[in-house]
Amino acid sequence: MTRHILFSALLTVLAALPQLAAAQSAEALDFHARFEERCFSCHGHAGPFVRDHLQIDDTGAIVTENGQSVDALLDRHAGGLNETEKPLFLSVFRKQIETGGLFRDKCIICHDRAYELARLKLILRDGQVMGRYSDRDIGTFLLNHGRLTPEEAELMTDVFFALLQGRR
Ligand code: HEC
Ligand code: HEC
Repeated sequence: MTRHILFSALLTVLAALPQLAAAQSAEALDFHARFEERCFSCHGHAGPFVRDHLQIDDTGAIVTENGQSVDALLDRHAGGLNETEKPLFLSVFRKQIETGGLFRDKCIICHDRAYELARLKLILRDGQVMGRYSDRDIGTFLLNHGRLTPEEAELMTDVFFALLQGRR
């Protein structure tokens, strides 16, 4: 009986996984297209730009190196972002800052920079992050690799997605 309950709980979790991954990808995809159109020409790829220039302050706000609010800056900078774009950008920026630290803490001892790992080992197939040679679904793989929580694994998969999407 217990076993049966556990088994059906497991199936439910497994069934939800591809949907989670798809939702994440849609956000990353949308963000990426807009960043490329509006910001790329001056700032290059979003990941390195965000990790080099932005941080999260003590109050949890995203700020520049000078402590200027990015939320306020995005209202007017480079023509400004509208009310659907701004929350999307801030949400992806936050993930990029958080996973930058996460990668340094938990992955860099065994792997090179996230960008290098993505470039050498990973590939996008039908909008999913996959191992280029291993053919693994990376979203699922990271649930049991590198001591990540499920939320962290999702963030990390999103970042790999954005890095791969940005390749030219
Ligand atoms: C025409 C070039 C140009 C475009 C396009 C542009 N930026 Fe900028 N951006 C700059 C310059 C130059 C700076 C640094 C000077 C300053 O502080 O204003 C800057 C600064 C920033 C900063 C603050 C970084 C820091 O360290 O102070 C953020 C955040 C930023 N841009 C985000 C964006 C986003 C998001 C977009 C797209 C919606 C964008 N920028 C489009 C030129 C541009
Ligand atoms: C203790 C060393 C170690 C740590 C820490 C580690 N990894 Fe790994 N990782 C490996 C090894 C070894 C492999 C290759 C395993 C295999 O192919 O079976 C691997 C494989 C991978 C792959 C799949 C590559 C492919 O070709 O399928 C990804 C993605 C990955 N790691 C990401 C991460 C991330 C993200 C972190 C941090 C949260 C992390 N790893 C932490 C050792 C590590």
